[in-house]
Amino acid sequence: MQNTIEKLDLQAAHHTRHPHITVRRPEFNFNQLPKYYFNDNPLMSHLLTALSLTFPTGERFFVHSVRNVRDQVKSKSLQADVSAFIGQEAMHSHAHEGFNDFAQRIGLNVQPVLDNEAKNTERLKEILNHKQQLAITCALEHFTAIIAQYLLEHEELHSQLHPDVAQLWLWHALEETEHKAVAFDVYKEVFNDEAVRKQIMRIVTTSFLSRISFLTIKLVITDKKGRTQWKQHWQALQKLSDAVKALLPVYLDYYKTDFHPNQHDSTALTDEWRGVLFAN
Ligand SMILES: [Fe+2]
Ligand SMILES: [Fe+2]
Repeated sequence: MQNTIEKLDLQAAHHTRHPHITVRRPEFNFNQLPKYYFNDNPLMSHLLTALSLTFPTGERFFVHSVRNVRDQVKSKSLQADVSAFIGQEAMHSHAHEGFNDFAQRIGLNVQPVLDNEAKNTERLKEILNHKQQLAITCALEHFTAIIAQYLLEHEELHSQLHPDVAQLWLWHALEETEHKAVAFDVYKEVFNDEAVRKQIMRIVTTSFLSRISFLTIKLVITDKKGRTQWKQHWQALQKLSDAVKALLPVYLDYYKTDFHPNQHDSTALTDEWRGVLFAN
């Protein structure tokens, strides 16, 4: 009887809060992937590569920050979601390591960037307390969730990805959307400090956006063939400016006192994409 109640509790929670968090292990092969895998566009391709370079270390940090406090989570359903969150992020780290190997193979000098990311992250673990570390994860999960939802919703964007890499970005986007509230709910249950949540978001916004911009610009200007493709750069900047305009209001919602990630309803979207990518 007790087991049945727990099972029902778990099912109810999955429907109301974190629907269907499933750990999947897709395989990828980037051997034939062209350098400019986003519609032959250097800037857009390098921007996605820059994001990918930050993912393996960043996502391991997310897992670390949630693990720090998971024994303080009382709700069984949230405990189960934490396990699924950890599983999904571990798979993302692994898959993006494979993608980053591709970037190294095609001649982008990515190893110093990866080393730097690892060094910076270790420093954060040393100097920040558990609340601040988890607040960083919540802030970055908000970024990944809103960017992921935008990618899934805009065919004119995701249809431009080379088929060998589209599955990586769409799978990752789907799972970011599925688990977008997990770290947030852990933070709420364990710390519930709104001032720190918002303050950390301000800092994360500056550092994340400047880091990604810096890495993208570096990849573009060190790319002899790609850096002078001005027409392509212009098209990329137009796409990015449309994205920024659309994402600004949803980004700002994070600063509302009653904010919760599920206020941006993505149930129909994740149902649709689960069917497209995994037929479940
Ligand atoms: Fe992820
Ligand atoms: Fe995530």
